[in-house]
Amino acid sequence: MKWKPKDLLDLDNLTTEEIEHILQTAKPMREILSRPIKKLPTLRGKSVVLLFYESSTRTRTSFESAAKILGADTTNFTVAQSSITKGESLLDTAKTIQAMNVDLVVVRHSSSGAADFLADTLKASVINGGDGQHAHPTQALLDLFTIQERIGDIKGKKVVIVGDIIHSRVARSNAIGLQKMGADVTLVGPPTLLPTEMSYLGIKLSHDLDKELPGADVVMALRLQLERQQSGLFPSIREYSKLYGLSVDRIKKTGKQTIVMHPGPMNRGVEIASDLADSVQSVIEKQVTNGVAIRMALIYLLIGGGTGNVVD
Ligand code: CP
Repeated sequence: MKWKPKDLLDLDNLTTEEIEHILQTAKPMREILSRPIKKLPTLRGKSVVLLFYESSTRTRTSFESAAKILGADTTNFTVAQSSITKGESLLDTAKTIQAMNVDLVVVRHSSSGAADFLADTLKASVINGGDGQHAHPTQALLDLFTIQERIGDIKGKKVVIVGDIIHSRVARSNAIGLQKMGADVTLVGPPTLLPTEMSYLGIKLSHDLDKELPGADVVMALRLQLERQQSGLFPSIREYSKLYGLSVDRIKKTGKQTIVMHPGPMNRGVEIASDLADSVQSVIEKQVTNGVAIRMALIYLLIGGGTGNVVD
């Protein structure tokens, strides 16, 4: 398949075939990660800038690893040590980056639409590493890859995503991606964190986790985003955990060898019990490893040849 977009901003304008193409491209990348020497010359001479206005562990480091494995040069743009602290705007920062002739910018920003703005402004390719409450497409792609790897075809599988849906760019991108791949998706959370307006995604909403668990092939817990909460959205963390927290006992209600996912970072003991997070049903560490493979695939597809065989 020929697919050579300039940017990757969200999953809503990708076709199912394009998503499948990205997942297929990530398979040989995943194989490279198990080699003793993880280094390819494919993107030698290409430059990648990591522009993270919000904190990140997994996304930033996996993009950096992915770019380096493919042979590209990486620059970490640290907001705290940049002229942003002197009031420089996103536009002027973007123009400065442009002047350095970079090939790809990976951006994370607290404002929804920041990645789209950069993509419109820059000649360089842009990948959205998470913008506000809007989208986190590379997280959704690595989650799709992990589900496929563990349980095969996503079509017809029952996926329950539970937690702080309203603040979650991960939930939104996953809901869109899973729906395109034919999954039966249910979003679950308390009414204050899952208002009925979320039905614009066209998928099932529920406030009762225990009712939705039977038959679930995949259950994904989301982080309770304490830093984005207004007061009064739920009575207490203890109450939230009792109604919506995943535990070893609660997951048995699926009646299946359900896989348990979490995008990280986790609040252990809040949205997921520690023993479940570390259990054999958990694929949380696999999600992280697969994140490098997915990001290698995307970097290759956007600024590499996009055709031919990347792996010798
Ligand atoms: N899942 C995720 O985006 O993690 P980070 O915030 O650590 O990048």
